[in-house]
Amino acid sequence: MNGRPVFLFNSTAERAAVFREAFARDLPDLIFADDAAAVDPDDVRYLITWKIPADLDRYRRLEVIFSIGAGVDQFDGAGLPAGIAVVRMVEDGIVRMMQEYVALSVLALHRDWPAYAVQQSEAVWRPLPAVQAGARRIGFLGLGMLAQAAMDRLAPFGFALAGWSRSPRTIAGVETFHGAAQLAGFLARTDILVCLLPLTAETRGLLNAEFFARLPQGAALVQAGRGPQLDTAALLSALDRGHLSAAVLDVTDPEPLPADHPLWRHPKVVITPHVASVTQPQTAAHAVIDNIRRHRDGQPMIGLVDRARGY
Ligand code: GLV
Repeated sequence: MNGRPVFLFNSTAERAAVFREAFARDLPDLIFADDAAAVDPDDVRYLITWKIPADLDRYRRLEVIFSIGAGVDQFDGAGLPAGIAVVRMVEDGIVRMMQEYVALSVLALHRDWPAYAVQQSEAVWRPLPAVQAGARRIGFLGLGMLAQAAMDRLAPFGFALAGWSRSPRTIAGVETFHGAAQLAGFLARTDILVCLLPLTAETRGLLNAEFFARLPQGAALVQAGRGPQLDTAALLSALDRGHLSAAVLDVTDPEPLPADHPLWRHPKVVITPHVASVTQPQTAAHAVIDNIRRHRDGQPMIGLVDRARGY
């Protein structure tokens, strides 16, 4: 142990280069390391990573684990030592990209883009009835920072916005629902459902047959949460019966989706390979540096995970 605290970086070399420069400039008293073998484990105070390394218990004086991404479900929180703070990535790049993805998907569904793509494949020129934005009810499942940022982008179009969360929230211009008891009412008023929930024991498998049955006939789904939340067979059945009109999926279970999976070729499904929102190193380095300063000053870190809640 040489005494100088170490920030251990475990992600791509490209990201490391950006973080290294930012740390040298803004936190010069920390040693920035991206080679775990080159540091004394007792000096490591901070770790940033996507997956928890198998030898985590080497770092006996570790204080904070930062996720390189917005999610922390991959950490298996239950197995981590209680005293270590776990922090989600909250940074401008992730927020901006999610705003783009949700706006793109909601507008595409609102304007029947998937149905027109099918018509084009059949050389069919047929206008479909156009619902006006004020009559289109968008519902966000999950009302965290990403959902609220996406709603800010959608609000100017005049959509009817609502959201459901585990605990009560008040958001200007948004009809809010909370808790298990209000889920059915929320789904009954939702034409385009956007899932941005974290993966927890409660949200695993939540989007199932019973859930889809509560959505109105013709509703559509944008899934930008986590793959295991969605019962794929239930989705396919709801699409095939015409109960749901379309789905945009950025996450699947498993990932990558196997080439022979029926979702790939379903005419009412649009799939992107988990790219809705990706950590951007410049803004992420800034966010992590800000959080380390907060931690040192005894201030609450942005994105600090409630370990019992799981997000
Ligand atoms: C992506 O899904 C992330 O967690 O950043």
